[in-house]
Amino acid sequence: MKYPNVHVVGHPLVQHKLTLMRRKETPTAEFRRLLREISVLLAYEVTRDLPLTTEHIETPIAPMEAPVLAGKKLCVVSILRAGHGILEGFLDLIPSARVGHIGLYRDPNTLVPVEYYMKVPQDIGERLTVAVDPMLATGQSAAAACQRLKDSGAATIRLVCLLAAPEGMEHFIAQHPDVEVYTAAIDEKLNEHAYIVPGLGDAGDRLFGTK
Ligand code: URA
Repeated sequence: MKYPNVHVVGHPLVQHKLTLMRRKETPTAEFRRLLREISVLLAYEVTRDLPLTTEHIETPIAPMEAPVLAGKKLCVVSILRAGHGILEGFLDLIPSARVGHIGLYRDPNTLVPVEYYMKVPQDIGERLTVAVDPMLATGQSAAAACQRLKDSGAATIRLVCLLAAPEGMEHFIAQHPDVEVYTAAIDEKLNEHAYIVPGLGDAGDRLFGTK
């Protein structure tokens, strides 16, 4: 199925690194490094259309009108805790980006997201806001996070994830048809525990070595 406003980043380096991440024997340190590297490539894609202006500079050879990013720039919002793994790659590429955090946990019985923390820059409405979370599983956490960002004034939001399930993608798009989604792959389905199949397991646990 083709989803509107969804960009699947099929770059060979992204796909290769994602396969390494999926392998169950990949250790924590390598998993973390790979997510950071893929995130740089996803950041490159999501910022592809940032507006440019020019400024007058002098090179050692000649003056020129040179391109620079226009206006206020980015706010990257990490959906805790696994979002942190993507945030690091974004900051490698865009060190001056502002950073927000939203803490949501999935109630194990209802699977409904519950907010426990939120802090975003005051001028979020003037920035391109990129919410990051590796796994779009049921889509409920990402949808709830984007709703909180809209309630806080965010005007232009993009969502970056590493992997998505079709069920989560459909839920998210239905809630936020205006938010463009960037992902490295859309997998087959969710299992009965709301894990993505084939997926890569629990991204937070694999990232932080908590299991
Ligand atoms: N969260 C994860 O970390 N993995 C999944 O497969 C689904 C949700």
